[in-house]
Amino acid sequence: MAIADEVKDLGAKTLAAIDAASDTDALEKVRVDVLGKQGSLTAYLRGMGKVPKEERAEVGKTVNTVRNQVQDALSARHEVLANAELDARIAADAVDITLPGRAQQVGTRHLISRITDEITDIFMGIGFSVASGREVETDYYNFEALNTPPDHPARSMQDTFYVVDRTGHQSSVRGESDVLLRTQTSGVQAHVMEEQKPPIYIVAPGKVYRRDVADPSHLPQFNQVEGLAVDEGITFGDLKGTLDFFIKQMFGPERKTRFRPHYFPFTEPSAEVDVSCGICGGKGCRFCKGTGWVEVLGCGMVDPNVFGYADIDPEKYSGFAFGMGVERIACLKYNVSDLRDLLAGDMRFLRQF
Ligand code: DAH
Repeated sequence: MAIADEVKDLGAKTLAAIDAASDTDALEKVRVDVLGKQGSLTAYLRGMGKVPKEERAEVGKTVNTVRNQVQDALSARHEVLANAELDARIAADAVDITLPGRAQQVGTRHLISRITDEITDIFMGIGFSVASGREVETDYYNFEALNTPPDHPARSMQDTFYVVDRTGHQSSVRGESDVLLRTQTSGVQAHVMEEQKPPIYIVAPGKVYRRDVADPSHLPQFNQVEGLAVDEGITFGDLKGTLDFFIKQMFGPERKTRFRPHYFPFTEPSAEVDVSCGICGGKGCRFCKGTGWVEVLGCGMVDPNVFGYADIDPEKYSGFAFGMGVERIACLKYNVSDLRDLLAGDMRFLRQF
């Protein structure tokens, strides 16, 4: 076969291969095979010197023509294939906006946080401000400055977690560590009276700790809100009026309060406050153990000895104090019978409130 015919033949086969290429990769392979450095058409261009003279003009013309045809066909086919590939990619990446979304679990504030805020809000509404204390406390503030010296029987009412150093060594004159997890927020009273002069009107929310095993009415860690008012001329009547107001705000205007004499080391006289049972309305039921009343908090008039520790003149000033358990208030408000339910983290339970 004449060389020019071989070239034409190669051109025809190449055009067919271009048509048959199903994607840009296959097309590129055809280009390299024919027009690349080692390509079959390139070989004819390079071999022109060896073509017999009389065929050279004809072969040269044919190679050029075929090369142009091949290049045109390559670019035309490339455009078609590249467009198709782009369309395919867009189709594959498409987002189906008609799919229903996945519901997000939205958290809410825990009941105990909300009740704590509710309690402090009620007192802020009548002129109290919020104070905070420390959970790791010293024996002095948790007990002693609250008129509860070592060996005082009231200490056994609050079984205490003591903090020891890493060697287990307890540095104390009494054989027990002086550092402890506070058993009550009452220590905030002692701090505030050291730092502020009367008039003092504060509430102090916070966590407290006791060596109790969790059961329906005890938790080893729970929350309290402490209250303290110190001013000239404060009476037991002010205490009763304030707590009566608080209870009606918290539980509803139909609820009654009752003050029962009690003992706390830091108040004299002291009382426990009961509220009429929210379930039976005071007739007596299982929740209130048939009495019609449930206990909500402890309170009393600040003991002059406590003023003594803080250098406040008990002849000039008097005051009242109170302390309540937040979990207990929550249980009474929502008739929950087991404190542990508040901590179990079961969304089916917590969502009710
Ligand atoms: N701190 C007491 C307790 O944890 C509660 C209490 C009672 C606080 C009487 C007071 C108070 O401020 O006056 O049981």
